Amino acid sequence: MRIDILTLFPSMMSMFFEESILSRAQKKGHVEVFFHDLHDYSLTRYGSVDDYPYGGGAGMVMCVEPLVNCIEDLQKQRSYDEIIYTAPDGEMLSQTLCNSLSLKGNLMILCGHYKGIDERVREHFVTQEISIGDYVLSGGELAAAVICDAVVRLIPGVLGDEQSALSDSFQDGLVAPPEYTRPVDFRGWKVPDVLLSGDHKKIAQWRYDQAVERTRQRRPDLLEE
Ligand code: ADE
Repeated sequence: MRIDILTLFPSMMSMFFEESILSRAQKKGHVEVFFHDLHDYSLTRYGSVDDYPYGGGAGMVMCVEPLVNCIEDLQKQRSYDEIIYTAPDGEMLSQTLCNSLSLKGNLMILCGHYKGIDERVREHFVTQEISIGDYVLSGGELAAAVICDAVVRLIPGVLGDEQSALSDSFQDGLVAPPEYTRPVDFRGWKVPDVLLSGDHKKIAQWRYDQAVERTRQRRPDLLEE
């Protein structure tokens, strides 16, 4: 997979990709991530990328030209499966959406700032708009990082133990069951006996029952779906 991220703050973004699973996925060749600084595509000598909104009002709007210059430059080099815009009014990010994005080849992600981007970019270039929650961030960079993290770990081979992505919360419509590791007894708080039994069938049944019970308590909406 290749991901191109268009942003006003490439240095803010890069740190997410230099550690842990996202870094390992790049080193192992499962994903390539490129950052593009929209200031480099500005029409003005000063690299300006935003302007006042037509019709007035507070805040600035990201201009159409730097975004379109950068998008078309990239499109000349390859075709994109999706051009994603991170926005609070987009489709809510879900495990189902992450699963489907993890199967794509080339993704482009546009990060908005200020009051957002000129609507004409959304109309004519963006193919998918994604929100990471019902709150407003000051920019799309954190949302882009969340999307990349959630998607890249699903690419086969990225996680050491491929099973572990399949047993994540939400992957089967349930939240994850509790997990324990050593020591078996900490201050008298013991690991459930069944997990020490070595009986894989019993353990699987216990985990499933726990997942259902936790989902009922914490996210009953998932069971209704
Ligand atoms: N940009 C600003 N707020 C956002 C949100 N909640 N999700 C995605 N992108 C955003």
